[in-house]
Amino acid sequence: MSLFMVDSEKCKKDRICVDECPAQIIAMKDKQALPEPIHRAEDFCIQCGHCVAVCPYGALTHEAMSPEQCPPARKELLPDPEWVEHFLRFRRSIRTYKEKPVERETIARLIDIARYAPSGSNSQPVRWHVVYDRKEVRKLAGHVVGWMRYLIKEQYEFAMSLNMDRIVTAWDAGIDRICRGAPHVIVAHAPADDRAAPAACTIALSYLDLAASSFGLGTCWAGYFHAAATMWPPMRNAVDLPERHTCFGAMMIGYPKYTYHRLPLRNEPRITWR
Ligand SMILES: Cc1cc2nc3c(=O)[nH]c(=O)nc-3n(C[C@H](O)[C@H](O)[C@H](O)COP(=O)(O)O)c2cc1C
Repeated sequence: MSLFMVDSEKCKKDRICVDECPAQIIAMKDKQALPEPIHRAEDFCIQCGHCVAVCPYGALTHEAMSPEQCPPARKELLPDPEWVEHFLRFRRSIRTYKEKPVERETIARLIDIARYAPSGSNSQPVRWHVVYDRKEVRKLAGHVVGWMRYLIKEQYEFAMSLNMDRIVTAWDAGIDRICRGAPHVIVAHAPADDRAAPAACTIALSYLDLAASSFGLGTCWAGYFHAAATMWPPMRNAVDLPERHTCFGAMMIGYPKYTYHRLPLRNEPRITWR
């Protein structure tokens, strides 16, 4: 099969696929010709499936996906702007969790949603590491505290500015300000030298964060966990990602103990118009 095929009975020669292809690998010789791949199209195609998804008639089948495999867009399921604004403003960082674990299937479903997040050149570099075992989460939080003790001892400026001494004191008193007692932590990782990976992992985790809120779950970015997992050898060893991979973000997840009743305020936007 060539990179894509066009059904001559369904195609209306409207050029939509030609116009929408991000890599500009679809051409029509003239107004009556069917769309076809340009020379070396397979070298430039990013397999985004836009050609398949944008055709109103289901006329184009890409080697990576057919119209039948791609679910139809359902306009009735799309939220209006007021709904979206409220949903986004309602999401909170959750720092007090119930004991109850999150079902593995639910976490798998969230990750399945998060994989539709955008990535540079559609490279989809994100891989997932779920620290599901609560004892393991606690152990890793202990490594983060070990890192903080080191930073404090060596008088690193950011240990002072982030008041890490208070976090360590809390830990010694049995209060976990690293993973906040969350039952699980989800890590997004990728090859350390992948230039698309930092943004891709951050966006994918944001997707997961927002999706989790709609499942009645609580999440919180695990910034200290992430920092220690990239910088502190005992933590890197304990997280145990594949060779040459690095952690590009981590998120606590669990059932929230409390409900928020209001939407807190934030700074006014600072915008430059030209
Ligand atoms: C990259 C990043 C790292 C964060 N790390 C932590 C963290 O380690 N611990 C924590 O309690 N909150 C962490 N947060 C949550 C922020 O404190 C929180 O987003 C902010 O206070 C706003 O609250 P909201 O998320 O409920 O709007 C982090 C947030 C981001 C975006």
